[in-house]
Amino acid sequence: MTRLQTLLEQERATFAETHPRSAAAYAAAKPHLLGGVPMTWMNLAAGGFPLYLAHAQGARVTDLDGHEYIDFALGDTGAMAGHSPPATVQAISRRAAAGITTMMPTEDAAWVGEELARRFGPPQWSFTLTATDANRWAIRIARHLTQRPKVLVNAWCYHGSVDEAFALRDGTGAVVARPGNIGAPVDLAETTRIAEFNDVEQLEQELAHGDVAVVLMEPALTNIGIVLPEPGYLEAVRRLTREHGTLLIDDETHTFSAGPGGATRAWNLEPDIVTIGKSIAGGIPVGAFGLSAELAERITGDPDADLYDTGGVGGTLAGNALSMAAARATLEHVLTDDAFEGMIERATRFTQGVQQAIDANGLPWSVSQLGARTEYRFAKPKPRNGTESAAAADRQMEDYLHTYLANRGVLITPFHNMALMCPATTDEDVDRHTELFGDALRRLT
Ligand SMILES: Cc1ncc(COP(=O)(O)O)c(C=O)c1O
Repeated sequence: MTRLQTLLEQERATFAETHPRSAAAYAAAKPHLLGGVPMTWMNLAAGGFPLYLAHAQGARVTDLDGHEYIDFALGDTGAMAGHSPPATVQAISRRAAAGITTMMPTEDAAWVGEELARRFGPPQWSFTLTATDANRWAIRIARHLTQRPKVLVNAWCYHGSVDEAFALRDGTGAVVARPGNIGAPVDLAETTRIAEFNDVEQLEQELAHGDVAVVLMEPALTNIGIVLPEPGYLEAVRRLTREHGTLLIDDETHTFSAGPGGATRAWNLEPDIVTIGKSIAGGIPVGAFGLSAELAERITGDPDADLYDTGGVGGTLAGNALSMAAARATLEHVLTDDAFEGMIERATRFTQGVQQAIDANGLPWSVSQLGARTEYRFAKPKPRNGTESAAAADRQMEDYLHTYLANRGVLITPFHNMALMCPATTDEDVDRHTELFGDALRRLT
């Protein structure tokens, strides 16, 4: 048995011993929950079973066994505003007592549209319940307007359960489904083109086919570790998409961490469409897509586009009064321009702490920061595209580090090694992580 295996087993034994109520709740759920959990990804639990939530507030969560944690997972960005921020809770309570969903708009929605326009640029917004749906509907609009069939995504991207996005290139350059992809509606080679992030030449080759309706991308990859854009790359993407008559969607669901207007504003990007979700309503389900004035005019003025009933763009609960009230309160009072300053400072401190521990232990790892989000990867130099980053994954190492931290009161996201700061995260929270991360590495080396 390797040293890593031994350490992981020790940590898992401690985890099992100290979390009997979570273990019992997990066992009790098995008969009637698929995979034993409300959503199957919740089985991604480094300790061997998921921790069950008792309550959460600010940057803290408490589990059923009464252990309190500093939470850097923050609902994988869904809780970037912190848990149950008071302004959002008050707005939700007021709204919930006075009609949660009806067939009527509320004034909150127009406020949120205007604020998203101020932050991200596109002037015309529409709402969904998830970021996945924002991407799906934006893709439909792009296909309709361009009359082209394909979507181009980056290798190892993630944009929610968007059918077109679960594709990779095989060794010959052919488009194939990602391993484990369930029930693709059609062969992905019919719907998808792939280019590596940061590879301008490959992007140009793929766009030259003239069949790509839209490039759907994150301005920095965040779902296979953080892969930052190299200088000039995003400008080249914009130039090439324009040259080839292809639209550009920036999915800001995670890159919103870059600042109050996401990477779009931080880096002066000019996408045709911005999509977002997760955090903007403080954890209440909402997603949104924003269209440039030109696209908005074209789609609303097109008599062949049914935006009202069965055109495939819309949802009964989308834009509901509760989501809109929560989004307004969160954007107005919680994820403010000022709040981002503090969040980004904390993330810089976190990143420095991780880098020092990596250096002190001589490990060939690297760490990348994207505003309020930071992530280390088991590779050095930093991966420059999704494929390089995917090759650096090490599940056992992640499980050891995550369980070590959890046993001592710190959570990072179960997907790879991401840590996110919310407005309530403190320097002391960050320093506690730095101390524990350093200890975990010393034991390893
Ligand atoms: C960049 C990006 N877009 C979209 C989504 C989908 O979000 P949701 O699962 O809330 O629909 C995710 C989820 O992780 C994401 O990372």
